[in-house]
Amino acid sequence: MENFIVTTTRKPDDTAEIFATELATKLGGNFVEREDFSFDMLKKIHGVENILLVKKNSLSVITAEGELFFHPNTAHLRIKNLRGGDGDRLIDALKISEGSTVLDCTLGLGSDALVVSFVVGLRGKVVALEINPLIAEIVRHGLKNFSEDSPHVLDAMRRVEVVNADCKDFLKNCADNSFDAVYFDPMFRRPVKSSSGLNPIRPLADNRPLTQEIIREACRVAKCRIVMKEHSDSAEFDRLGFTIAAGGKYSSVAFGVIDV
Ligand SMILES: C[S@@+](CC[C@H](N)C(=O)[O-])C[C@H]1O[C@@H](n2cnc3c(N)ncnc32)[C@H](O)[C@@H]1O
Repeated sequence: MENFIVTTTRKPDDTAEIFATELATKLGGNFVEREDFSFDMLKKIHGVENILLVKKNSLSVITAEGELFFHPNTAHLRIKNLRGGDGDRLIDALKISEGSTVLDCTLGLGSDALVVSFVVGLRGKVVALEINPLIAEIVRHGLKNFSEDSPHVLDAMRRVEVVNADCKDFLKNCADNSFDAVYFDPMFRRPVKSSSGLNPIRPLADNRPLTQEIIREACRVAKCRIVMKEHSDSAEFDRLGFTIAAGGKYSSVAFGVIDV
């Protein structure tokens, strides 16, 4: 991974600079002192497209599409609804409950992993994979350090185990039946740009389609179910052997399932 630098806000304390240097070493990028430069200037001077920014209590990435940072906004609302007795389409599709184990193969901004973590609780387990090291780092940091939410949401955040890995490689190393459910939310073949909070992630996210080989491995690793989210009229469901789950009749997004 290259094409990025690590820097801080304009007046950092020592801790922020030390942390930024450590992150640069860990991720294989260069640490650059911020001084008084704008992000555009820094990008130009260092010939990079992305800036990993260390703030007082959080991390973000400045991409060509905006600032990418961890925030539990939609997950917060979904957890609130679940606590109020409403359903959640992903949770229904995964058919999971307290104590289940779930492998989320496409962490992204971590909203789905967080909702799943809330549902499976202390006795369950959520491992979430992200192929892009910058996305993995800011979401891992956010899940570990975000503090402005209710205790049940924060507890669920802390329990998500983030791994920077390609799901293709990770799945190959998993034992048969090692998770109750395996989940995929790949970048849609046809993005829903207008309604998406995912825009700042696009320059970093891996856009490659899932392969039949990945789904075969997921079938070996999942004890019960594999779920994939995609555009409701996506040809990916057929191509990869998913049946569209009931519900969400009027939504542009659908969940496909494979029972194993
Ligand atoms: C649409 S986003 C997932 C959004 C996520 N469900 C959420 O709630 O925020 C897809 C993410 O999967 C990642 N990804 C794509 N292919 C992957 C792979 N082979 N292994 C791991 N992560 C992958 C992308 O980089 C991107 O961050």
